[in-house]
Amino acid sequence: MYSLVCIECGKKNDESRYTCECGGLLEVRFNLNEVEIDFKLDGREMRVWKYRSLLPIKSEPVTLKEGGTPLYRLERLEKELGIRRIYVKHEGLNPSGSFKDRGMTVGVTKALELRKRAVACASTGNTSASMAMYAAKAGLKAYVLLPAGKVALGKVAQALMHGADVIGIRGNFDDALRIVREVCERAGIYLLNSVNPFRLEGQKTIAYEIVDEIGTPDAVILPIGNAGNISAIFKGFEEFREIGLIDKIPRMIGIQAEGASPVFRAFREGREDIIPFENPETIATAIRIGNPVNAKKALRAVYRSEGLVEVVSDQEIISAQKILAKNGIGVEPASAASLAGLIKLSRIGEIDRDATVVCIATGNLLKDPETVIKVCGEPKMVEANVEKVMALLT
Ligand code: F0G
Repeated sequence: MYSLVCIECGKKNDESRYTCECGGLLEVRFNLNEVEIDFKLDGREMRVWKYRSLLPIKSEPVTLKEGGTPLYRLERLEKELGIRRIYVKHEGLNPSGSFKDRGMTVGVTKALELRKRAVACASTGNTSASMAMYAAKAGLKAYVLLPAGKVALGKVAQALMHGADVIGIRGNFDDALRIVREVCERAGIYLLNSVNPFRLEGQKTIAYEIVDEIGTPDAVILPIGNAGNISAIFKGFEEFREIGLIDKIPRMIGIQAEGASPVFRAFREGREDIIPFENPETIATAIRIGNPVNAKKALRAVYRSEGLVEVVSDQEIISAQKILAKNGIGVEPASAASLAGLIKLSRIGEIDRDATVVCIATGNLLKDPETVIKVCGEPKMVEANVEKVMALLT
């Protein structure tokens, strides 16, 4: 029904591998002629496992009822930016508060299928929170490597409380990923970073749900960190097109933070691969990544969908985070990069006025309370006295 194929040399690989002998990334490829689609695109009962016939899992899934996230329409912003339809898909409302849960439900189930006892990841925070939660559900041991001092508090709290072994690395995410890949290899632990192709299979259901609810949009905009999600969502649309469920693919638009933008630079120069950033830096710590492991897949998704990659400043990110909050959508900084990108691109005429655009809000506001206090300030404080409170009303 499916095989694990190298995107560079085309060789079929064993399920237990993450990359090909030639070093290329692997991709799950379905024989789509043989797949029996058993779901209806009626916008109802959306969940990751609604699309099970297109997921590479044979066993009973480890699930916390992930997916089925709300798609909000931002009418005020449509008028302001002069764009026909703007939607935000709030992935921050998944069980652990980010889109990673879609990948983990598949990845952790695969770990059980492969009879692994332990799972591990390097993370800027959300992957570790999600993996810890799903490993707990599955009864697996979990190891997490974090760049010390650079992970938002809510995410560390989740990884700790759900029982992962949390290890801080004196280095950045890229160092942590390099180390965990070798540790997994040597200790026989199952690696659940997005270099694992099964995780991306779960995440492609974001595309399925968008089509299920509103059909094919003209563009999908999302932040790029390790570059897995944009690759996954593109794959979802491509599969639906191959099956004949849709007839076009939206432009895939990736947004990076200025201080961590190797994919943007490669796109600008028309290259297929990146030159890493040595010292990535941004307030959006979730996407503070200098050497994204899925860069090749992401650039392929952008080129094939006639999309683009743009950068935004930390200030633009915070300003978009506040706009989303004013629309009732609470997200962490990295998530706001998608809207920041849309605002920038619409101002320079890169987005068709007649377009339907979906921004992916990748993670919940509660993930990063410390940044909120930094940008909003501390709450006002007064004596426990009615007059004093009355005097503060504006
Ligand atoms: N938004 C949020 C909130 C994230 O946590 C991440 C990635 C991204 C966007 C970027 O997605 O890596 O697929 O391009 N976070 C990873 C982590 C790296 O460890 O939690 P991507």
